[in-house]
Amino acid sequence: MEKRTLIIYTVITLMGFIFAVMSGYSQEDVINVEDSAFEKKMRPAVPFLHDKHNETAGIDECNTCHHVYEDGKENEYDSSEDQECSECHTINKGDNSMSLVKIYHLQCKGCHQKKKAGPIMCSECHPR
Ligand code: HEC
Ligand code: HEC
Ligand code: HEC
Ligand code: HEC
Repeated sequence: MEKRTLIIYTVITLMGFIFAVMSGYSQEDVINVEDSAFEKKMRPAVPFLHDKHNETAGIDECNTCHHVYEDGKENEYDSSEDQECSECHTINKGDNSMSLVKIYHLQCKGCHQKKKAGPIMCSECHPR
């Protein structure tokens, strides 16, 4: 093989490897909200192109959604993207906390209503 061809092949292989490693460790694969705590879903998964959504919506801070609370107050320097929402927000309404459905709706729909942008109708987030 010609030396130049060999170099080109090496570079392409390396780039592919780096890309594979990077995508394996990022959230760019998230295309649905599908919390594992909903065992029997009434509706199909909610389409949510994570990175693209946050880019078009102009959300810079991860903890706008993946928040952490301390002594009842949001800690603006910390974030919880390593946890599912349901790890902190329980699914049932047996206790005094808000149900899991409610906190998803409050966060997603709440911001869309505030910003007057993004879907607020059931069928826009839960396509048939
Ligand atoms: C608009 C809200 C929102 C913002 C902003 C946001 N995320 Fe997420 N993210 C979600 C939701 C919803 C899920 C899926 C539900 C879950 O896993 O709890 C998720 C899931 C994830 C996951 C889990 C991936 C998996 O495979 O389970 C990671 C990692 C993540 N986000 C990282 C980030 C990082 C890093 C940022 C900031 C650059 C960020 N997120 C900003 C809403 C958001
Ligand atoms: C590390 C634990 C933790 C994680 C993970 C977490 N939350 Fe929370 N969240 C809290 C706490 C604590 C509160 C304060 C109110 C309460 O006691 O429920 C709260 C409050 C809320 C509220 C009401 C106040 C507000 O911000 O509007 C919403 C809505 C909410 N969370 C949505 C979410 C969503 C959606 C996710 C996943 C993307 C998530 N939370 C992940 C701990 C968490
Ligand atoms: C902090 C604000 C904020 C939060 C939280 C948020 N969104 Fe959005 N979302 C927006 C804005 C702003 C737009 C409109 C973006 C544009 O200009 O197209 C949008 C648009 C969308 C769209 C339209 C298509 C797209 O991807 O741009 C979908 C679907 C959507 N949001 C789903 C969700 C879901 C599901 C959640 C909760 C997991 C969520 N959003 C949480 C601000 C938010
Ligand atoms: C802005 C987007 C949005 C809108 C609008 C919305 N939802 Fe949701 N909803 C979600 C997300 C995100 C979840 C969490 C999905 C998951 O993890 O599987 C959810 C979960 C649910 C669940 C529990 C999971 C299941 O499938 O059983 C029900 C029921 C539900 N929504 C019904 C509704 C109804 C009824 C409306 C209209 C009144 C509505 N939603 C409007 C985003 C939305």
